[in-house]
Amino acid sequence: MSTYRALLVEKTDAGFERSVVSRSVDDLPAGDVLIDVRYSSLNYKDALSATGNPGVTRRFPHTPGIDAAGVVVESSDVKFSAGDEVIVVGYDLGMNTAGGFGQRIRVPAGWIVPRPQGLTLREAMILGTAGFTAALCVDKLEHAGMTPSSGPVLVTGATGGVGSVAVMLLAKLGYEITALTGKTDQHDFLKGLGAADIIDRDAARAGADKPLLPERWGGVVDTVGGEILFNAVKSLRYGCSLAACGLVDSPQIPATVLPFILRNVNLLGVDSVELPLDAKISAWQKLAGPWKLGGLDALVEPLTLDTVSDAIDRILAGRMVGRGVVDLQA
Ligand SMILES: NC(=O)c1ccc[n+]([C@@H]2O[C@H](COP(=O)([O-])OP(=O)(O)OC[C@H]3O[C@@H](n4cnc5c(N)ncnc54)[C@H](OP(=O)(O)O)[C@@H]3O)[C@@H](O)[C@H]2O)c1
Repeated sequence: MSTYRALLVEKTDAGFERSVVSRSVDDLPAGDVLIDVRYSSLNYKDALSATGNPGVTRRFPHTPGIDAAGVVVESSDVKFSAGDEVIVVGYDLGMNTAGGFGQRIRVPAGWIVPRPQGLTLREAMILGTAGFTAALCVDKLEHAGMTPSSGPVLVTGATGGVGSVAVMLLAKLGYEITALTGKTDQHDFLKGLGAADIIDRDAARAGADKPLLPERWGGVVDTVGGEILFNAVKSLRYGCSLAACGLVDSPQIPATVLPFILRNVNLLGVDSVELPLDAKISAWQKLAGPWKLGGLDALVEPLTLDTVSDAIDRILAGRMVGRGVVDLQA
């Protein structure tokens, strides 16, 4: 197949316009491995790319999609052969390299994770960057000492991609979870994933003017940033940690050193994009093995190339729930 379908974002005088078009494989960047993309998934960052955020994408026309799972068509690298099932998340995929919202990608071999046994291509994309990042957050918190006896764990942006997988994973690992959400109609969804308690997003902003708040959390997975993040830091129990991975509320944090020097707490950064390939492979193997989640379909909103544009608008507006999974063959 020398042509393939893709979502294309073009910069016009009217702004950034999206359409599904036919592309030639010759238009793809040079790279080691050509992949027939079977599934992708929608992440918040894809919406930033699709709307011209220069921190994500500077070169247009462009096909977003920071996640792809598919089958190798041809490879100039001996590590991969035609027919191999593979996963690509992060690095430059979908940023300034044509991404997973197209039926073909061509990428360096050093970006590719062989599909681990125990996870289908579709399951890998239900998780996608969001689920993978949720796992990195939990892993980092556990390395910092978090255990189920540390106390309840707060997950912010809980109905979103990272948040919903974090709730499921923490529940599987035996943690008591409090989910923070702005969606009053999704409490049952969150309880179904394993949340014991729900906090309303607006209530979580109270106390932003106080230096410390009552000790409450044994750990926090934060996807939103801003004052919600720092209120959560101020509510960590002595010696506990918050893993920060997102900024949907704000990249700014109204911080003081007080929680750090009075309560011995830790603010941990999590990046899924430039993580070395070996660490990515280990994390995917964990998600396919000891951390394999059952019931992933509860998270899925099925998408196609023709419906992903509408979902891009909804994720930007904070209205998506769970994971939008794009079937490239539908
Ligand atoms: N560091 C990394 O490597 C990495 C990897 C993946 C994602 N991220 C970042 O993590 C964040 C979440 O990504 P995602 O793909 O999970 O996005 P998502 O699916 O859109 O989830 C974000 C959730 O945050 C909540 N939210 C929306 N607007 C908010 C606001 N103004 N204030 C507070 N909460 C708000 C909503 O959940 P509720 O309605 O339930 O509150 C929303 O569903 C993004 O900033 C993304 O860029 C970083």
